[in-house]
Amino acid sequence: MFRALLLQKNESFQASLASLDESALPAGDVTLDVAYSTLNFKDGLAICNKSPVVRQWPMVAGIDGAGTVTESSHPMWKVGDQVVLNGWGVGETHWGCLAEKARLKGDWLVRLPATFTLRQAMAIGTAGYTAMLCVMALERHGVQAGQGDVLVTGASGGVGSVAVALLSALGHRVVASTGKAAEHDYLKRLGAAEVIDRASLSEPGKLFQKERWTAVVDSVGSQTLANSLAQTRYGGAVAACGLAQGMDLPTTVMPFILRNVALLGVDSVMAPLALRQQAWDRLARDLKVNLLEEMIDEIGLDQAQVKAADLMAGRVRGRVVVKI
Ligand SMILES: NC(=O)c1ccc[n+]([C@@H]2O[C@H](COP(=O)([O-])OP(=O)(O)OC[C@H]3O[C@@H](n4cnc5c(N)ncnc54)[C@H](OP(=O)(O)O)[C@@H]3O)[C@@H](O)[C@H]2O)c1
Repeated sequence: MFRALLLQKNESFQASLASLDESALPAGDVTLDVAYSTLNFKDGLAICNKSPVVRQWPMVAGIDGAGTVTESSHPMWKVGDQVVLNGWGVGETHWGCLAEKARLKGDWLVRLPATFTLRQAMAIGTAGYTAMLCVMALERHGVQAGQGDVLVTGASGGVGSVAVALLSALGHRVVASTGKAAEHDYLKRLGAAEVIDRASLSEPGKLFQKERWTAVVDSVGSQTLANSLAQTRYGGAVAACGLAQGMDLPTTVMPFILRNVALLGVDSVMAPLALRQQAWDRLARDLKVNLLEEMIDEIGLDQAQVKAADLMAGRVRGRVVVKI
């Protein structure tokens, strides 16, 4: 038997800690003892039943996991290997990692980088690995340190915190946008040169605004993304990965056709293995582990539901790590 955060939908939605039989685990060629999981925005949506993240019921929650292989028929993995899982529909269509055990496809797994512990890998989690994918997308566009200010929206959140830490470690002048007045010092410790109030970005604005940003990492979407585009300098780029404010994008073609601004979409869930491996290698090289420790709020599996509600209410800073 193993403990898991089980999501069920019959007449009504229910989330509860359940004791499940191992024979109920889904098909897969690698079985893990999960040591740590985490709460991302998507986990919050799923656990609080806020949007249709889960598409198969019952579902074990948890889109991320880090642990040790206990069984494997996959050529890449053997018993004792330490691995990381992000996305691939886990916690959505395949039982997830907010559980003591998970059975997964070996093709989904990344080897734990030597630089990180299993706990640190989950402090990074999908949020941090997506922040890295955003930075890599900007770099592919030609964005380099020293060209000008880089804006990070949703800065005190998971994606935002890791993006601030990464970009500043890479030498960029980072401007962090947050709605949390109490977290300005936190963001400066992560490396932000300047912190702005998110209210300056979240309301409807002009089509064209003063050119401020060489690049943007946006995890907020909606009006914030529209204003970020309208404030991006000629030839700049915006990496968009999230919808914390909303999934709409009330903009026009003007930033694209008159300022040559590029909007770069970033998805982590189905990102190919080679790109993930590259992102994790870059995280191991570029993310300062002491800054990662600043971001961590560690909880137990039995606290995950309460913390997921806090996350949805905007009461969480940085990254939640769940010790299984
Ligand atoms: N594309 C992908 O593959 C991918 C991967 C990971 C995450 N995401 C998405 O990225 C977003 C952030 O994820 P996360 O895990 O970092 O979540 P998170 O930790 O909850 O952070 C979200 C942050 O957004 C800001 N925010 C929240 N509500 C807002 C609102 N109404 N208006 C403006 N700002 C708001 C808050 O930052 P401040 O308080 O500092 O303003 C909050 O901390 C989510 O939409 C998530 O689904 C996408």
